[in-house]
Amino acid sequence: MENVKIEVRDAIAIITIDRPKVLNALNAQTVAEIGEAFEQVRNDDAVRAVILTGGGEKAFVAGADINELATMNPITGKETAERGQRVFTAIERFPKPVIAAVNGFALGGGCELALACHIRIASDKAQLGLPEVTLGIIPGYGGTQRMARLLGKGKALELICTGDRIPADEAERIGLVNKVVPADQLMAAAEEMARKMASRGPLAIRAAIEAVMIGSDMPQDAGLVLEATLFGLLASTSDMKEGMGTFLEKRQAKFTGK
Ligand code: COA
Repeated sequence: MENVKIEVRDAIAIITIDRPKVLNALNAQTVAEIGEAFEQVRNDDAVRAVILTGGGEKAFVAGADINELATMNPITGKETAERGQRVFTAIERFPKPVIAAVNGFALGGGCELALACHIRIASDKAQLGLPEVTLGIIPGYGGTQRMARLLGKGKALELICTGDRIPADEAERIGLVNKVVPADQLMAAAEEMARKMASRGPLAIRAAIEAVMIGSDMPQDAGLVLEATLFGLLASTSDMKEGMGTFLEKRQAKFTGK
């Protein structure tokens, strides 16, 4: 891959979007490579958590590549949005925790990418926003849906319709990011959280993500049925026996994902 790098350290895959000359802007090739990177990591049993970040000092991702967007027509525009949505939805439903380490500008498609991740940790230098209306378009990679679900319609419409960029501390205050850390501690903070999640039962983590991500788009009654079914399913796993056994025997759990 040309614009996306994967590094696996211990049980953690670090996926870096690496086109720093254009602040990691997402052209079609980069979107496809992000999808490919996640597919590789999905099939790697040694990986139990993912950190997604941007290469260079300035940006997580400064948006979709405006040079490409400028040439779209109604048909290619719809196809572009659908391709991005497919990749981002695969991240949202990824069976291993995905932490966005937001190291700088996360604008437009970059903000939408961070929104598709399960958790967002931001550097104190990060700025987030959906500036699409300043270009005469709307977010097309899920931003109108995921931001409204995360923040509520009022705050989402404020950010989408002004196109304003907000600093990391304000993003934390409104719940757009989970936490903010000094820039030089960002990767350590993301890795610490990823390591903790990687040490838990992988099947339990997978079920938790499914219950929250799929369940939150269902009426609550149906979400509760999904929760009970997944809860029951975990009773069939060696990991449940291991987890409960270690509590009773007061030792560290060694989960196998079986
Ligand atoms: N698509 C294509 N190229 C982009 C880009 C994007 N989304 N964002 C930045 N770049 C390019 C710039 O054109 C510039 O290229 P150049 O050096 O060949 O001129 C390079 O990245 C550096 O960006 P620059 O604008 O010089 O940096 P800055 O620090 O002055 O400003 C931003 C940073 C992020 C505020 C500014 O680049 C910006 O507003 N980008 C567009 C954000 C946006 O609207 N995203 C939504 C797209 S739907």
